[in-house]
Amino acid sequence: MGFVNAVGELKKQIDDIQVNIDYIFFASSSGGTQAGLTLGRDLFELNTELIPINIDKSETEDLSLQNCVLNILSDGRKILGIQKKYQPEDIPIIKDYDKAGYGVVTKNEADALKELAETEGIILDPVYTARAFYGMLDYLRKKKIHKGSNVLFWHTGGLPATFHYADQLKIRM
Ligand SMILES: Cc1ncc(COP(=O)(O)O)c(C=O)c1O
Repeated sequence: MGFVNAVGELKKQIDDIQVNIDYIFFASSSGGTQAGLTLGRDLFELNTELIPINIDKSETEDLSLQNCVLNILSDGRKILGIQKKYQPEDIPIIKDYDKAGYGVVTKNEADALKELAETEGIILDPVYTARAFYGMLDYLRKKKIHKGSNVLFWHTGGLPATFHYADQLKIRM
């Protein structure tokens, strides 16, 4: 519900500046973030495609991430009065960037973290947001996103994890 409300805030902000967001990239791991963004998008009628970058190679317990999201969507739509009945095809999961496994920081995550820190002064966490940000950069580099689209990266936090990985990332604290 936090993410549903956050999409409501986003909707206000983008209406104020009169832009449409075509794509939202974010890290998806256990389902809550993705379900909240999906419900929020549909409740506030955003014309936006969600691109959830899967973080964990192995599934959550015995449920697939898609089923975890589906379960939350089924409960959430009732609470929010959303008519749409969600199907598995409404739940994209991009599994192209999870091969190293959960919590394993590769050059991809390290490079994404460094690039955003150096260019914008924004710190990603090495486990979730850096992996998702790398995925977004890869999409853009491979021109998988239409030219002229408005792309939003949703930074979901996790900054303290950077301290745990400082040695590996060769960051001096
Ligand atoms: C920083 C960060 N981003 C994204 C996620 C993914 O959220 P969810 O588990 O709701 O998919 C997590 C989960 O722990 C996280 O810590």
